[in-house]
Amino acid sequence: MASSILILNGPNLNMLGRREPGIYGRASLDDIRDACVQKATALGLSADFRQSNHEGELVGWIQEAAGRFDGIIINAAAYTHTSVALRDALLAVALPAIEVHLSNIHAREDFRRHSYLGPAVRGMVAGFGAQSYLLAIDAIAHILNETTD
Ligand code: DQA
Repeated sequence: MASSILILNGPNLNMLGRREPGIYGRASLDDIRDACVQKATALGLSADFRQSNHEGELVGWIQEAAGRFDGIIINAAAYTHTSVALRDALLAVALPAIEVHLSNIHAREDFRRHSYLGPAVRGMVAGFGAQSYLLAIDAIAHILNETTD
């Protein structure tokens, strides 16, 4: 059976395309979802792409992912820098996870340099705009291939 991945997006990412385009680009979240589904399909994965402005909803989706998905890609947006709850949820389900950011969070304000998710993910892709998501899908496909070999 094809592996399936859950791609989660945090607060304000529903505003992409209109939101600070000089930092986040002109692609909408729908554009990114379409590109992710296409990329995942090309790699033989199925992808479920979701966004929420609510921390608890994201925590719930991570908890429910156990047993339903093989891996998680997450752009937690501002919750990256604040949320012990998302970190704990990722550690609790123990699925391979990859953190994604459109912008290079290390080249911006100091408060963006710290990620609470860091210890709960295999790695992070940041700074490549919408392409960050596609690179993360490549990475998770690689991880999932290693575990099924
Ligand atoms: C972001 C970076 C975060 O610092 C910010 O709060 C976001 C988007 C990114 O994708 O570059 O909302 O996660």
